[in-house]
Amino acid sequence: MNRSLERYVKSGYRRVEGWLLPGAVQMIIACAGVQTARGVKGHVAEIGVHHGKFFILLYLLKAAGEKAVAVDLFGEQEKNIDGSGEGNLAKLNENLQKHAGNNDVIICAGDSAKITGNSLIEAAGGKFRFVSIDGGHTAAITAHDLATAETALAPGGIVILDDYFNEMWPEVSVGTTNYFSAPRGIAPFAIGANKVLFCHSDYAHAYSEAVKLNCPAYVERNFLGARVVCAEFAKPALAVRIGRQGWWKLLRETPPGRMLRALYKLVSPRLP
Ligand SMILES: C[S@@+](CC[C@H](N)C(=O)[O-])C[C@H]1O[C@@H](n2cnc3c(N)ncnc32)[C@H](O)[C@@H]1O
Repeated sequence: MNRSLERYVKSGYRRVEGWLLPGAVQMIIACAGVQTARGVKGHVAEIGVHHGKFFILLYLLKAAGEKAVAVDLFGEQEKNIDGSGEGNLAKLNENLQKHAGNNDVIICAGDSAKITGNSLIEAAGGKFRFVSIDGGHTAAITAHDLATAETALAPGGIVILDDYFNEMWPEVSVGTTNYFSAPRGIAPFAIGANKVLFCHSDYAHAYSEAVKLNCPAYVERNFLGARVVCAEFAKPALAVRIGRQGWWKLLRETPPGRMLRALYKLVSPRLP
């Protein structure tokens, strides 16, 4: 990990306004490691950058010479029809300067609905190893941005979708299921920390294994026609962690175990 990336991941990203959970940082870094090992190359892009919190991470993960494309309405917030975030180009530039630098940054200011995968490829001069989708959160915009991202994706690239499981943005899941109601060349391989990750099927195994190795706990489920790793990053409550222990499973039905459970019921917080 280079020094700037290390600094950004350790503390820098917490000082940039936006939405990014530590678990997402872990997953993306793990997947970038697979890209390096497998020789996946390409530019990076984000649709919906706000002040650059996640975009800067992608910037720091790209290799020299690869471009980082930022798509956002920026000054045209009257077109932000669902009020998701508020892109600000001056703040993005300031944050890039502070945490990363801005060589090889390409700004695409405007409505993502006007952008296609081919125009993104043209802007950067090639395909992408990461495309993050976090712009407009309506069903129509989500489906459009997924099409843009899939078209622009290099072999082995990853599409990162935000907010599919966020109850505040239900249309993101509607747009995604609409998009995947037709056969597609990408499929999900991991869910975690408010992100869903998609790739071409021949890379899914390597990426899933990397996510498994880099999260504290996971289960595997079927989702949108594919097998996915559902990664859990949030630390479960103490009672839940104890409940998962083998020694507790042996103890819980014994007299001391029953006594401890009765005591826990007395002192544990009640829902209203
Ligand atoms: C939730 S914020 C993005 C957060 C950001 N990814 C981060 O890391 O903190 C959503 C962003 O999408 C932009 N946006 C909303 N609708 C858009 C559209 N139709 N086209 C392009 N950008 C859009 C907003 O200006 C805002 O900056």
